[in-house]
Amino acid sequence: MAGESRVYLVGAGPGDPDLITVKALRVLRAADAVVYDRLVSDEILSEIPAHAVRVYVGKEGGTHSLPQSEISQLLVTLARQGKTVVRLKGGDPYIFGRGGEEALVLAEASVPFEVVPGITAASGVLAGLGVPLTHRGLANGVRFVTGQCGKNVPLDLNWASLADPDTTLVVYMGLAKLPEISANLIAAGMPADQPAMAVSKGTLEDETVVLGTIESLPARVREVHLAPPVLILIGRVVSLRETLGRDPAPRT
Ligand SMILES: C[S@@+](CC[C@H](N)C(=O)[O-])C[C@H]1O[C@@H](n2cnc3c(N)ncnc32)[C@H](O)[C@@H]1O
Repeated sequence: MAGESRVYLVGAGPGDPDLITVKALRVLRAADAVVYDRLVSDEILSEIPAHAVRVYVGKEGGTHSLPQSEISQLLVTLARQGKTVVRLKGGDPYIFGRGGEEALVLAEASVPFEVVPGITAASGVLAGLGVPLTHRGLANGVRFVTGQCGKNVPLDLNWASLADPDTTLVVYMGLAKLPEISANLIAAGMPADQPAMAVSKGTLEDETVVLGTIESLPARVREVHLAPPVLILIGRVVSLRETLGRDPAPRT
């Protein structure tokens, strides 16, 4: 019955199952229905109660197994059946997670909802590697951008503002467009030797790190054939990894 149920838009963190919040785990264990994405680990999924309905809506072969509009509608339908619904997403629901779009549909349908924030890939993955996002003298700010757009469409980003060497730049979903990102940043004035790194499957056991500069990173990443998900970081803070980082040793 509408009004008695609630949808929780929950962030599951960057991958390591220990990096989910206490609140996220609590609502997950009380769920009647869980609608989840590809980037949620099996350990976290094992916390779903046996009686709960599970619906996988992640990507299959590059396209969503369910279009976004249908995912949002599914949340409304499940909530109207009187269920406590958890919409479980990788990282944080409001950072490149389409959580805002789902929240708008729920608000429009007058379905009560709550957002349970998660540790986004940028902070979870990089903290684990000994790379602070900001650091006095190295980076006075940080920007998160998406490197995703249509296959044959150029990325529509404000390169002049992103080329600031005093700001850390984190690119989500940027693997396919890395050569374009590198060329555009250098053309917009970023020093070609600005440190950069790519991290595949951060916080997980098979995490891989590739280090370089904004100029060299695309070729290094190509050599290694990184598996998604991959996060790209550009900024002087990368240099702190040498002293603050842990194993595994980076590929250089
Ligand atoms: C659709 S976005 C979801 C982001 C998520 N909502 C968050 O806050 O982290 C997926 C992108 O996040 C990044 N990502 C998420 N988890 C990651 C991980 N464990 N290692 C590296 N990158 C990750 C990758 O850039 C991936 O392409």
